[in-house]
Amino acid sequence: MVNKKRILSGMRPTGKLHLGHLVGALSNWVKMQDSYQCFYMIADWHALMSEYENPEGMSGNSYEMVKDFVASGLDPERSTIFVQSQVPEHLELAMVFSCLTPLAWVERCPTYKEQLREIKGRELTTYGFLGYPVLQAADIAIYKANAVPVGVDQLPHLELTREIIRRFDSLYKKNIFPEPEPIMTKTPKLLGLDNRKMSKSYANFIALSDAPKDIEKKVDRMITDPQRIKLQDKGHPDICNVFSYFSTFEKPEVRANVRDWCEGAKIGCTECKKRLAKVIADYLAPLREKRDKISDSDAKDILTEGAKKARQAASQTMDEVRACINLVPLVQKR
Ligand code: TRP
Ligand code: SF4
Repeated sequence: MVNKKRILSGMRPTGKLHLGHLVGALSNWVKMQDSYQCFYMIADWHALMSEYENPEGMSGNSYEMVKDFVASGLDPERSTIFVQSQVPEHLELAMVFSCLTPLAWVERCPTYKEQLREIKGRELTTYGFLGYPVLQAADIAIYKANAVPVGVDQLPHLELTREIIRRFDSLYKKNIFPEPEPIMTKTPKLLGLDNRKMSKSYANFIALSDAPKDIEKKVDRMITDPQRIKLQDKGHPDICNVFSYFSTFEKPEVRANVRDWCEGAKIGCTECKKRLAKVIADYLAPLREKRDKISDSDAKDILTEGAKKARQAASQTMDEVRACINLVPLVQKR
């Protein structure tokens, strides 16, 4: 048990979790609980970097997120589920890392440049935002994580983490941090309702907590095969997003049926979408049921317990780091 490898991953609490999160990340996080010692973090400092102008929803979003986590199958008994800002050691290590990270490393980070370009209506040319990946490196290193489940978009951050860790260990001639490996799980690509990436900012998502009625309305908006105008037109399921959802959420037999109906013009798109809406609603029903039973106070309790466990691990690492760089030890024992 004890020598299970350790993983850490995190998500920013910027709104409701949706099917993209579930298919792309959460379902893997759930599976990894069997084989790793798991730390799952709600990255509220990272969220603050973009939400600082309107921080109203911050704490509420963290509570909702923990409900979504647990409803999706994360088990607070087996995994440490916590909020980043409740474990102050992350910032201590980020401070240390920021001292030894050359400015050029963060300035050339492709995600930084991309976000500055893409995210409109927010002032992101801040000191904090430039340091986004340095804090992420601290998140990972503070638990001495051996691996990090991430999507491709996060690979540059993981590479930077490895560079920072190597620099730390070589500067102080220590071997404190393992170099974290990315765990890239192949996940089916689930696009948003409008065929763009599913994202809160595009309002093209189905939330895990959406009621069946809302799911039906949203699925009805989905773009289908544009060449299929009349019911008699034969469809092309391989270019239809509705069909790709069937592939993700339905068994191969059902998928084959849908293909046959579509290619043989045996079913209209409206009817096809109705069926898909039911498939998704059924898929999410147990999650919703579980979620409804988790109160705000349960969510708080889970996070309190998680922060306690996380701090135990994090403070040990910080003690070692302080010794390494000749800081006076903390007076107050945590
Ligand atoms: N940057 C990640 C994202 O936007 C969230 C995150 C913060 C994270 N700290 C992390 C992910 C540490 C993995 C490990 O998705
Ligand atoms: Fe897509 Fe279904 Fe219409 Fe075929 S019948 S084009 S799979 S929505």
